[in-house]
Amino acid sequence: MTTESDPELHAGVFWDQRYRDEAYAFGTEPNDWFRECLEGLPAGRLLLPGEGEGRNAVHAARHGWRVDAFDPSAHGQRKAGLLARQHGVEIDYRCCLLDAFRLEPGVYDALGIIFLHLPSTQRTPAYRHLAKALKPGGVLIAELYSKDQPALGTGGPPDPDKLYSLDCLETDFPDIDFRVARQCRRDIHEGCLHQGPSSVIQLFGHKT
Ligand SMILES: C[S@@+](CC[C@H](N)C(=O)[O-])C[C@H]1O[C@@H](n2cnc3c(N)ncnc32)[C@H](O)[C@@H]1O
Repeated sequence: MTTESDPELHAGVFWDQRYRDEAYAFGTEPNDWFRECLEGLPAGRLLLPGEGEGRNAVHAARHGWRVDAFDPSAHGQRKAGLLARQHGVEIDYRCCLLDAFRLEPGVYDALGIIFLHLPSTQRTPAYRHLAKALKPGGVLIAELYSKDQPALGTGGPPDPDKLYSLDCLETDFPDIDFRVARQCRRDIHEGCLHQGPSSVIQLFGHKT
């Protein structure tokens, strides 16, 4: 059960306050790695957990994907709906935390985990649970900040417990055959919250 002292609920309130303003905190364009990975794939069903204000969901829907997304922020849901309407597409966006989302196993062609940073006690079970949503052959796309990110000060959680190493992420997804699994530096320009040289982990692989 979720209580007021629950860090997950706290994350929802925190992000809801960040999304309150009219401007999109991460902009309205999709994440670069997500866009690049999606380009080579035939459209199908896509799941986006922790989807915030909907930039990735709307991009995918514009390219023919049937998108399910969720996030605990009501403002995120509202702004995602607005963005979808502006582009004349539909997305199914639920306002809930991960532990309340009714995940359908084995039905998705792709799963996008874009900057959904969880505490280490939750990360492995949460990611393994999410990976169950993929069909065999379905694709995992992920971009997350590495443990080297705080020194750069260009975005991401300040808490080192919510930052990742490549090793731990590869271990989190035992059923994914990775084509790309790397830590790299790249310039990120996403709204006002992600700006500048950044240290990220990028994953792309198929469910076995
Ligand atoms: C850095 S934002 C990224 C948003 C979006 N993925 C994007 O790339 O624009 C992280 C998001 O994860 C969501 N989040 C944090 N903890 C969560 C949880 N336990 N379940 C679902 N979403 C969560 C937050 O509400 C927030 O919108």
